[in-house]
Amino acid sequence: MTDRHPTLRRFLTRQAAPIDANLVFLIEDIASACRAIGNTLRNAAFEGAQGSAGAVNVHREDQKKLDLIADDIIARSCENSPDLAALVSEEREAAHWLKTPETGDYLLFYDPLDGSSNIDVNISVGSIFSVARVAEDGDTDVLKPGTDQRCAAYALYGPTMMFVLSLGHGVHGFSCEYGTGDFRLTHPGMSIPEQTSEFAINASRQRFWPVPVRAYVDHCLAGETGPRGRDFNMRWTASMVADVHRILTRGGIFLYPADAENGQAGGKLRLLYEANPMAFLIEQAGGAATLGAERILPLLPESHHQRVPVVLGSAAEVARLAEYHAQ
Ligand code: AHG
Ligand code: MN
Ligand code: MN
Repeated sequence: MTDRHPTLRRFLTRQAAPIDANLVFLIEDIASACRAIGNTLRNAAFEGAQGSAGAVNVHREDQKKLDLIADDIIARSCENSPDLAALVSEEREAAHWLKTPETGDYLLFYDPLDGSSNIDVNISVGSIFSVARVAEDGDTDVLKPGTDQRCAAYALYGPTMMFVLSLGHGVHGFSCEYGTGDFRLTHPGMSIPEQTSEFAINASRQRFWPVPVRAYVDHCLAGETGPRGRDFNMRWTASMVADVHRILTRGGIFLYPADAENGQAGGKLRLLYEANPMAFLIEQAGGAATLGAERILPLLPESHHQRVPVVLGSAAEVARLAEYHAQ
């Protein structure tokens, strides 16, 4: 095996600052779960695994069969991880405690299948993960701010299955090698260009948008002869993982604001297993992630499934949006 594309295990065990062995095991368990989910997605049409599960989750959203299958695969793959104390999943109302928490134990927050409305139309979906630690013996408080994250990652089930990870020292992308099934480093040190001319927002919600978001998008759409003096492109996949992966690869800005329709709930995206891990990855790649003006990561969560507005991507555009908010 060449060192040009080291395996995830080799990468994790060859860090300049050694990583706690139990965190290495947990990350490997997460990656195994992603491999299994990727295989399940590939065969879903044969297994009758597509379509609705006929149930709703804590967010009153229709659960797909694959939302539940992916949740189960992750829980089973990680529950024997030596130092994992609890799981918090989009698909489970309460935290799932595996052991009495001791200082330094890990907490795993995850969105088992992100973009699951895309499954049946065969567009990319993903899984999102965030890892934090128990502060002291007996501490059952899972409401940790994003600044406490030890690691964040996502799997992208696209034309190539990828696992993208940050341990707080940059962002590194691993591609799943056909044949061995190994995740091997193909995208070391991913970094987001500071400037961009590409934005991502669900434009069907325009009538609900707050004024700063409406002004920002209007000015992008005005193009070369408008206030921005250049043309912008728009992309929206309805899978946050796919949109974030595009931004990590070639830049861009992603917006899911709290608006007149979802504002009561705080927005659409969930803080603990969507906004926090993606904000961590984006900042580690040199981008910025805000609630509109303030950084996402320092926010102290109030509940497991709390929703927040999310603006993330190329630093200059995220800063510009904050200026629109200030005005
Ligand atoms: P999930 O499938 O985990 O519920 O997440 C869906 C999220 C996110 O992936 C995406 O950016 C957004 O919801 C799509 O929202 P619209 O349906 O408004 O496009
Ligand atoms: Mn999601
Ligand atoms: Mn989901």
